[in-house]
Amino acid sequence: MTLLARRFPKLSLVPHVPLAQTTPVQRLALSGAKGEAWVKRDDLTSTRYGGNKVRKLEFLLGDARHRERDLLVASGAFGSHHVLATTLFGRQWGFDVHAVLVPQPWNDHVEENLRVGLGAGMVPHAVRSWAAVPPTQTALVATLRLEGRRPYRVAYGGSSATGALGYVEAGLELAAQIENGEIPEPDRIFVALGSGGTAVGLAIGLAAIGITAKVVAVRVTPALVCNRATVAALVASTMKKLRDAEPAFPAVGHAALAQIEIDSSRFGDGYGTANEDAVEASAVASDFGLTLDPTYTARAFSSFLAHARGADARRTLFWHTLSAASLSERADAGPEVPVALREMAFAQSF
Ligand SMILES: Cc1ncc(COP(=O)(O)O)c(C=O)c1O
Repeated sequence: MTLLARRFPKLSLVPHVPLAQTTPVQRLALSGAKGEAWVKRDDLTSTRYGGNKVRKLEFLLGDARHRERDLLVASGAFGSHHVLATTLFGRQWGFDVHAVLVPQPWNDHVEENLRVGLGAGMVPHAVRSWAAVPPTQTALVATLRLEGRRPYRVAYGGSSATGALGYVEAGLELAAQIENGEIPEPDRIFVALGSGGTAVGLAIGLAAIGITAKVVAVRVTPALVCNRATVAALVASTMKKLRDAEPAFPAVGHAALAQIEIDSSRFGDGYGTANEDAVEASAVASDFGLTLDPTYTARAFSSFLAHARGADARRTLFWHTLSAASLSERADAGPEVPVALREMAFAQSF
């Protein structure tokens, strides 16, 4: 049973499949830190594949099963963690998985994710730009229906009101760890902001328990993709979903939104581009046995580091969101990335 259902019984009716385990909190002996620095190890949500997507998929796959769908249609950049996680867990739960993919700057991490996804049965549909994603998805869903399939369209990054419930649950998990004395209440939580479901769900979960920590959402995607308005809309739709299902869920939409601070200082010159701050942050994190990726978590960790070493720091928490599961063997066993996809990635960046 989820923590949400335990505290708010009518939420037990919201469809859910169990994928994630409780993740530990650890103190970091960070050189130069003022106050206390902590990490929430959501890189360990699952040994199959960890990170933040797993928590969202608990509710997304639950919803798809409840609606009797047999195929998932996801979208993302070539190396998308969301598409990969959707493929791995979707296949495990008996879904076929198609993905509309957009090229991104090529690196080993992107290639590894793509190879593992292809090896697990993900069917790629590459397009040249983000603008082409929605019409391609619409056409794909229509074609699949004509073929007698029952497709379920997964929101970009898994960040629908349904997906965000995974992080409302995560907020309750942290609250329980505070209550048990595993970690003092943090005053600032740093997390990467891509499509918003992680930061939004977390802020709602914390606000519902009365934890007032700021959620510093370190934006790594273009402001056109994720911004104050998209975050506010997701807070509103997630709150509606929660309160429609369980009227006893507290009306904390305004409080949750006020707790989210969008930090755009680490966007640099674009999504997934090489970034010196991120390289330095990865080196520091590796001293603590934490592996970061250049696109999301290294940038968020860089902002966390700057704050934790600043005069205002008190109890700062980095929320790790990348999977710690090793993919190299699965990537080696997977197919080579088709030349057409590789060429598209090299020809374009955004
Ligand atoms: C490793 C990692 N961290 C953080 C995020 C951002 O999460 P969200 O899309 O919920 O804002 C993503 C999104 O793809 C991710 O892959």
